[in-house]
Amino acid sequence: KPFKRILFTGAAGNLGQRLRPHLGQFADIVRLADLADLGPAGPGEETVRCDLADRDQVMAMCEGVDAILHFGGVSTEEAFAPIMQANILGTVNLYEAVHKLGIRRVVFASTNHTMGMYKTTDLVDAGMPPRPDGYYGVSKVFGESLSRYYWDRFGIETVCIRIGYCWPEATNYRQLTTWLGLDDLVQLLRRSLLTPRVGHTITFGTSDNPGRWWDDKHARFLGYKPEQSSAQFANRVPDAANWEEMQDITLTYQGGVFLHNGPKYRS
Ligand code: NAI
Repeated sequence: KPFKRILFTGAAGNLGQRLRPHLGQFADIVRLADLADLGPAGPGEETVRCDLADRDQVMAMCEGVDAILHFGGVSTEEAFAPIMQANILGTVNLYEAVHKLGIRRVVFASTNHTMGMYKTTDLVDAGMPPRPDGYYGVSKVFGESLSRYYWDRFGIETVCIRIGYCWPEATNYRQLTTWLGLDDLVQLLRRSLLTPRVGHTITFGTSDNPGRWWDDKHARFLGYKPEQSSAQFANRVPDAANWEEMQDITLTYQGGVFLHNGPKYRS
């Protein structure tokens, strides 16, 4: 196997649970970490309870690992305080540990909400300025920027995956456009971990969907070729002619429903 031990943070979450059976291919030992209960460790697994906001716990969590898949944190729009603790302080703690412990590579679960204020008629690539759609998106821009600093200054490599909509099924227009199938995510993780040299790279995590908003041209060298497509769900999504509110901001901006959620947390 390519690595002796890798760490996966956020292992109790939606993606953590779905990815868990697929992680054994990457390392002899997969260390699964979360604030929440992870159940008993299976063969080739270790489990760690860890609050990303706690510096000492994060240092202990990272000890002895060769690479990190960093998926832990707040995954939706929220009040600023929890986002600050998990996504901002948590990422700082993680990279501090990565640097101190000499870990060479991180794969960071970023999000399309770093670019959510682009319009659904824009074609977005990783060279364009971030336009986050809320505190959550801003916190992921922070993670992308922090990891950029750790590459430029300390030579620690990171692939930031701006994950689209990674749930089993797509049921509206936005989900169709941004959908990421689990097998494609596993492929992206494999390429992010095993490509010999990645430096600091931002890639867009989508399957081969019709009408994609994102051009992954800056990450072509990863060789990612999606094998899944949301076309299989197209018959569940109403035709454009039936949309009642063509000016609805959730259809105007790529961030979709986050455009409504953001302001709820700041009145
Ligand atoms: P999730 O919310 O289901 O899982 C996140 C996990 O992080 C949870 O198990 C939670 O307990 C843990 N966590 C939260 N705060 C923590 C803290 N302070 N210390 C330690 N652990 C903490 O999210 P999901 O859907 O599994 O997403 C995983 C990652 O991928 C997240 O970083 C999310 O932002 C990102 N992502 C996911 C997308 C999706 O479609 N599922 C889309 C874009 C990004």
